[in-house]
Amino acid sequence: MIIAANWKMCLSPQQAIALAKQFSKLEHNNSTIIVCPSTSALMAVSKELSSTSLDIGAQNCSAQKYGAHTGEESAQTFAALGCKWCIVGHSERRLFRGETNQEIADKTAALIEHNISPIICIGETLQQFKNQQTEATLLKQLEPIIPFISDRKLPICIAYEPVWAIGSGKIPTNEYLSKTFTWLEKQLESKTKNNHLHLLYGGSVKSSNAFDLLSIKTISGFLIGSASLDFQEFEKIVHCTSRQ
Ligand code: PGA
Repeated sequence: MIIAANWKMCLSPQQAIALAKQFSKLEHNNSTIIVCPSTSALMAVSKELSSTSLDIGAQNCSAQKYGAHTGEESAQTFAALGCKWCIVGHSERRLFRGETNQEIADKTAALIEHNISPIICIGETLQQFKNQQTEATLLKQLEPIIPFISDRKLPICIAYEPVWAIGSGKIPTNEYLSKTFTWLEKQLESKTKNNHLHLLYGGSVKSSNAFDLLSIKTISGFLIGSASLDFQEFEKIVHCTSRQ
């Protein structure tokens, strides 16, 4: 199982360090736990967790290698800060920062070049869901990424996060998720020939629904936002995954 905590822009550096101290006590079996603080807290959190088995991830990166890109951070910098992972294409960046599928593919390529495993987020809006455009939307989002994720050297995660499930407390039915994940797995297998991709679910994951979600066998982990800001709640989710 892979469980990624996306702390978004919710914590000050001091709060992030305090939460990282709690995370350093996290007991988990063989799951890979990834902590993704905001960039300002990355260095301190990375230091705080350096003697643990937890991994560090960034929340976004530039597709550019170096140079005049004010306010951006490169994959090379994240690698130097000890990041093994980086989220790309989160819906909050697609919707509020206007990131395109091609930009997200370019970022994916930059990460892979620097040996950072991408956690690539895809997902449909509520309107697309209602119009039964989920599969068409996911295919469009994946299309430019496909050439880069056939690489088998690095673990690569595809996080399916219906936009309408993020931060809303609403969660798709298991039947819908089961169907969508099975379809996604088949698409990825046939298009990438890489059967080592990890499929994560994200969107309102909590300790009260985690166990149920894991009955869907194609789900190999979670990308967790708000529930990852509460250590006890996050720990309960991690324990659900070790019971599976
Ligand atoms: P949520 O966020 O768990 O708060 O719904 C998930 C995400 O944004 O990745």
